[in-house]
Amino acid sequence: MGKCCKCNGRLLCMCLLPCMMTGHLLIYIMVSIFVTISYAPPKITIHYIAPGISANSSALASHPLGPFWNLRLEDGALWNQLQHAWDRQHNPILRRNTTGINRKPKAQLSTEIKDDCLSDCTSHKCSVPHAHDFNSLPEQIRAFIKSMHCREYPFLINQPGMCRRRSNSFGADSPMLLIAIKSQVGNFENRQAIRETWGRSGLVRGETSKKGGLVHTIFLLGRQDSSTGPYPDLKNLLELESQKYRDILQWDFRDTFFNLTLKDLLLWQWLQKYCPTATFIFKGDDDVFVRTDALLDYLHKEREEHNLWRGYTNDTEMNLFVGDVISNAMPSREPSTKYYIPETFYKGVYPSYAGGGGVVYSGSLALRLKEVSERVHLFPIDDVYLGMCLHRLGLSPRHHPGFLTFDLSITDRENPCAYRSVLLVHKRSPKEMLTLWKQLQNLHGQC
Ligand SMILES: *[C@@H]1O[C@H](CO)[C@@H](O)[C@H](O)[C@H]1NC(C)=O
Ligand SMILES: *[C@@H]1O[C@H](CO)[C@@H](O)[C@H](O)[C@H]1NC(C)=O
Ligand SMILES: *[C@@H]1O[C@H](CO)[C@@H](O)[C@H](O)[C@H]1NC(C)=O
Ligand SMILES: *[C@@H]1O[C@H](CO)[C@@H](O)[C@H](O)[C@H]1NC(C)=O
Repeated sequence: MGKCCKCNGRLLCMCLLPCMMTGHLLIYIMVSIFVTISYAPPKITIHYIAPGISANSSALASHPLGPFWNLRLEDGALWNQLQHAWDRQHNPILRRNTTGINRKPKAQLSTEIKDDCLSDCTSHKCSVPHAHDFNSLPEQIRAFIKSMHCREYPFLINQPGMCRRRSNSFGADSPMLLIAIKSQVGNFENRQAIRETWGRSGLVRGETSKKGGLVHTIFLLGRQDSSTGPYPDLKNLLELESQKYRDILQWDFRDTFFNLTLKDLLLWQWLQKYCPTATFIFKGDDDVFVRTDALLDYLHKEREEHNLWRGYTNDTEMNLFVGDVISNAMPSREPSTKYYIPETFYKGVYPSYAGGGGVVYSGSLALRLKEVSERVHLFPIDDVYLGMCLHRLGLSPRHHPGFLTFDLSITDRENPCAYRSVLLVHKRSPKEMLTLWKQLQNLHGQC
């Protein structure tokens, strides 16, 4: 009995399965035919008729149905909308009257920022239109939105003579490398450790070659931010420090994480005015360690290569921008993180950018970045902003494996020889900087 059932089941299977499959196939074919028959081509309204084809002919030349550019940005996030408006304003093809270049373009989107507002930060009528969910955004992004139209802040401490100072001891006055460090008023110890180690100003020798270069170090500071305080008043101390070392730049804005982009902009302004001939700029944090001598070797090599090519291309501008490159990064949508960017503020992927700690770029590129930045709305994350500006110049940052944003493995940290291929390492306390500096003094002989 049991055996027979099994038999029957198998027979049933062998018969039914092909039947069912054929049935499915038939249904599929019928549906496909039905869909094909019921399809009607979309109605094309004729805007433009290619010459030689009569309007009454059914054989039209193929032509795009929509505009090539997305001229209207629907449903954009705040930053995207603002940027879109600026892109339209500055697009030479979209602007009808090219003879009146300096003419102020008419407002096209309500989200536009008036030109006069770039320098007038206090005026109420200049504040950026708020995102619709403005009040539910975290405090730091609200503060950013309220002041993002403003990019000119007065100096509290300036060093106008830094690059003009003719140093008697070495004659040269144009630095090979300008080291610009983002620091905060309270971080005296970090600054001092940098001055005593890798950020020593003066003539610095390369690691292997005899060639070195003049190095100037400068620190970029804002005003100590009382919202994270209270802080003791260090104004007089900072004044003394600045008089002694003459390497402090301070501007009158709140020194917060989302205001760090201002330091890049203001550094570029300062460079253009006071130090336009610096060959290379290193921009970094005050908790990184840089092997300056190895970096100088690398930069010399890059410059020689560029000079070789220049013979063929006439390209006098050197577009070097190196660091630890991050590509295809998405904004952090996690409200508890430091880097949180709400979707109503920015949509899309970040352009390639060189992340955290430090980057090196050529002086001529710094001046071009300054120029293009005037057409890019401020973004709260400084590394990303640099990526955006580079992108607009048609450039991308170059990755260098010597930029270790995430440090060496723990076992290697104490081993000086492990630093041979390192240009920058994050992060080091002032004490660790001094120790490491000593250990690395005669690295070349050891390894
Ligand atoms: C196209 O057709 C319309 C009427 O259907 C006619 O008035 C017109 O003259 C025709 N144009 C040409 C170029 O044949
Ligand atoms: C373009 O601008 C110039 C000067 O601003 C003006 O004289 C001229 O009439 C304008 N042309 C058009 C087509 O708007
Ligand atoms: C940046 O600094 C300006 C000027 O001090 C201030 O108004 C603004 O709130 C600051 N922005 C952030 C995000 O802290
Ligand atoms: C390159 O430089 C030479 C001499 O300086 C000049 O005559 C030539 O026009 C330049 N070529 C280009 C493409 O700029």
